[in-house]
Amino acid sequence: MTEAFDAIVLGAGAAGLMCAATAGQRGSRVLVLDHADAPGKKILISGGGRCNFTNVGTVPERFLTANPHYARSALSRYSPADFIALVDRYGIAWHEKTLGQLFCDGSAKAIVAMLLDECAAGGVAVRCGEAIEAVDHRDALFRVRVGGRDVTAPALVIATGGPSIPKMGATGFAYDLARQFGLKLVEPRPGLVPLTLAGEQLLFRELSGVAAEVVATSGGTGFREAALFTHRGLSGPAILQVSSYWRHGEAVTVDFLPDGPRDWLVEAKRAAPRRTIKRVLGDLLPERLASVLAEQVGLGGEIGQASDRVLGAAGERLKSWRFMPNGSEGFAKAEVTAGGISTAGLSSKSMAAKAVPGLYAIGEAVDVTGWLGGYNFQWAWASGVAAGEALASERQRQAS
Ligand code: FDA
Repeated sequence: MTEAFDAIVLGAGAAGLMCAATAGQRGSRVLVLDHADAPGKKILISGGGRCNFTNVGTVPERFLTANPHYARSALSRYSPADFIALVDRYGIAWHEKTLGQLFCDGSAKAIVAMLLDECAAGGVAVRCGEAIEAVDHRDALFRVRVGGRDVTAPALVIATGGPSIPKMGATGFAYDLARQFGLKLVEPRPGLVPLTLAGEQLLFRELSGVAAEVVATSGGTGFREAALFTHRGLSGPAILQVSSYWRHGEAVTVDFLPDGPRDWLVEAKRAAPRRTIKRVLGDLLPERLASVLAEQVGLGGEIGQASDRVLGAAGERLKSWRFMPNGSEGFAKAEVTAGGISTAGLSSKSMAAKAVPGLYAIGEAVDVTGWLGGYNFQWAWASGVAAGEALASERQRQAS
């Protein structure tokens, strides 16, 4: 027996659930299918279990995409304030942590429960543990084969995310579907991911566990946040942020003295010539990092013994330390996938494929990647709502 719906949403993640609830509440009969045993698994682990569900500083410039204008329409039509209003309506307590990042006071489970309630309010059928065996498109109907049965609908939404963290059930299925329907891809790559170091730069391995506030820059974009040294290289928010901009063969420049002017060491010499460089650096940096950096710039003794020229050069180096990562920790550790389904073939208003009537792509599957800090969920909500509204108005148009 074939079951018929107005729309089938593939993926019960942030974007898929939001889209389904939006369309369902506007009268569409919607089915959501997911191969995982439960919906919203990434939401549950996000933000350390408290879900950093949006960022009040959301602007299109904080997203990476081949077309910087693409996300503008959806982001402006469904803003952080709209999602906050939804969260408030459900009485979910939240707080701003830092840099505009909003987190639940309690568990991320409340966000998943809220999305499922919103789906239920729209009469949406959410079916998990459903392996999708085949998808095809004939006679203006999408046919999805699951568990040996067919479900059909005139509209299909690709919301299966990207391949980051495969052990959570993430796959590149969205890209397989995109290829099947002739949509182009922007090469997917790990984003918001720790970077690895090799060779002499592994000297920093002894600093594993040490964190410091820095400005990390790559690909022309810099972030002032904490960097963390790890056994394999570099992590922490500043590094995760620049990792999305970093490309193989490029440097990541780290300013270890974001508050110190370039001639800060020369000034420190004038103020207290008997202090060691290690001590001086220790005023601004964790002790172990100060010690390794002093060694690396070759200044072991009292600061008064070094010439202004040498101190000036050391200051320069500390303000623009060049790391040459040899890679990243890959999709296994990446918080998001940068790249994905090219926006060139999609409508920025409805998220619909221009060349395949009834096909939509939303969320992380698409080549729109936010900064760390709630931006990726805001894109998932906004693109989900845009597609959900479009699905419903298309159904109403066809019915009238
Ligand atoms: P999402 O990945 O949420 O959902 C895709 C769904 O499709 C999944 O349920 C999956 O099981 C399903 N699926 C995949 N392949 C399938 C197949 N072949 N068949 C059927 N179903 C399939 N962002 C943020 O803004 N704030 C935060 O705090 C965090 N924290 C965070 C922590 C960690 C550890 C990770 C890995 C990621 C984050 N993120 C985040 C990023 C955020 O989780 C991500 O951008 C969104 O979940 C993307 O939403 P989507 O709905 O597009 O994909």
